[in-house]
Amino acid sequence: MCGIISYCGKREAIPILMDGLKKLEYRGYDSAGFAVVENGNNVVVKTVGKVSNLEAKRAGLQINSSFGIAHTRWATHGKPSEVNSHPHTDCHNKISVVHNGIIENYLEIKEELIKKNHTFKSETDTEIIAHLIEDNFSGDLEVAVLKSVKRLVGTFGLAILHADIDHQIIIVKRGSPIIIGIGEDEYFAASDSNAISAYTNRMIYLSDDEMAVLNSNSYYIKDMRNQILDKQIEILEEEIFKEDKKGYEHYMLKEIYEQPESIENAFRGRLIEGEGVSKLGGLEPVIDRLKNIKKFIIVSCGTSYYAGLLGRYIFETLTELNVETELASEFRYRRLHLDENVAVLALSQSGETADTLAAIKEAKRKGALLLGIVNMVGSAIAQITDAGVYNHAGPEIGVASTKIYTSQLVILTLIALLIGRYQSVSFIEGSEIINAIRKLPSQVSEILKNTEQIEEIALKYSKYRDFLYIGRLFNYPTALEGALKLKEISYIHAEGYAAGEMKHGPISLIDQNFPTVAIAPNDLTLDKMISNIQEIKARDGKIISVTNADAHRIIEMSDDAFTVPRTIDILQPILNIIPLQLFAYYIARNRGCDIDKPRNLAKSVTVE
Ligand code: G6P
Repeated sequence: MCGIISYCGKREAIPILMDGLKKLEYRGYDSAGFAVVENGNNVVVKTVGKVSNLEAKRAGLQINSSFGIAHTRWATHGKPSEVNSHPHTDCHNKISVVHNGIIENYLEIKEELIKKNHTFKSETDTEIIAHLIEDNFSGDLEVAVLKSVKRLVGTFGLAILHADIDHQIIIVKRGSPIIIGIGEDEYFAASDSNAISAYTNRMIYLSDDEMAVLNSNSYYIKDMRNQILDKQIEILEEEIFKEDKKGYEHYMLKEIYEQPESIENAFRGRLIEGEGVSKLGGLEPVIDRLKNIKKFIIVSCGTSYYAGLLGRYIFETLTELNVETELASEFRYRRLHLDENVAVLALSQSGETADTLAAIKEAKRKGALLLGIVNMVGSAIAQITDAGVYNHAGPEIGVASTKIYTSQLVILTLIALLIGRYQSVSFIEGSEIINAIRKLPSQVSEILKNTEQIEEIALKYSKYRDFLYIGRLFNYPTALEGALKLKEISYIHAEGYAAGEMKHGPISLIDQNFPTVAIAPNDLTLDKMISNIQEIKARDGKIISVTNADAHRIIEMSDDAFTVPRTIDILQPILNIIPLQLFAYYIARNRGCDIDKPRNLAKSVTVE
């Protein structure tokens, strides 16, 4: 949520800042801007809308500078307008600040500063930081920043410069992610490593309440007591950061098509056939503790929450654990009994979702074992958890999550299998699960070979305004996730419901204009799903089903049916979601929506 990039070195700064902003745009695209210092002047350029608008604006300007800061915004305080765009400046346009996060006590500070005759231009919380630093500045930016930051309550990743101080950028972190890139006599800072990995693979992950001072040929890192810290430089090895659309029209489509590979990456090297069990190196340090855990709580948000809901069913099937799934944003406020016998598992693609982070910090305070399934290596959640498993799925750029969802489901199954094999899951059962996992990539590829039918059906339904998605047991979360995909990217109202609950409310909505997507595989819930479909047909509702080729009755009853290969019940949702991802994608494309950057959303939500 909001992306920050900074450069301090000898090259032209603006192309580097613009390139970084494009890679950070998934974090917000309400407005974009940069500030560079040219001949001692603070030059600030900003626009409403996407980074391409900023690119067009700066193309007409002749600016030369080798240090600067830039920002792409997801609006929190103040509507998306040029004046509310970052960078924000002080009264004399000397200090520029870009910010990711929220300053909770900004009104109090703003009032104080107004009394001291500071003039504010925007409605943002961020602008107070520039004025506060101005107020505390007497020649040394570092001292002024340290003093100012101590007054701030909230979360922030900040990049700050002063026009009178040549080649100095100050970075501060509390709560929001920020990474320092170390080059040869040049230094970078960004909200994620992807934005700067084209220039260096040497990264420093700042922790909360740390400050980096970047100059043109040196840098140092301090804590808030002004002590220099000896932080380790980590080498970013993964090639995955050199991303493009690889010929696909959208990142989302590319990521849907990457699923055979991302699913394989989720289990590669993690299955021991001879023992019918999984092997997860990241959990080994805590395996003894894990064996004695009495309660397991999965916390997450958005699509990761729906993966967590399904994770609960998978854990209940394979283990004797008492399992709960909680929305991270609710979990942190509840009076839950947590102690060292409880494991709290955070599921997060980005590893930086503010609600999930806050939830696990709360669990840590109470002594629970913290685990994570995270895609972004070295992210905040990966750092705070006691142990965990990486998805190794490569970056997911499309705001609507696809390949991470299926990858998370595979890893949840691996963890449940690992624990279940210490409990009552037999070698034979474990081996069956392993065989089924191994077949998933080819089964997903089979679905992806036949997308013309999905595209045609999507065209037929593109004009409808409302959809109901229903499923039972393992496919109840599939209904929720299928509906979420449609509403996120096509702006069509879609409700996911447990099929059995339909008769308690949503059935009153059904008529010929309100189609239902029924996820009805040939499993033990089939007969009940047939009854639900009949109830909808009796009310003139249209049915689009996701089922298996041998579920003849479902296919006959449906107006349209997507058939997917059959696997074991706990894994069937991984196959069932694929046509629904594509269905949402094609509908959104038919409606001309901005699929990779849906309105009002951001990929990484770093505000609570
Ligand atoms: C945002 C994204 C979703 C994602 C959710 C949780 O809403 O648009 O795609 O599922 O955040 O993100 P996380 O990174 O924690 O999985």
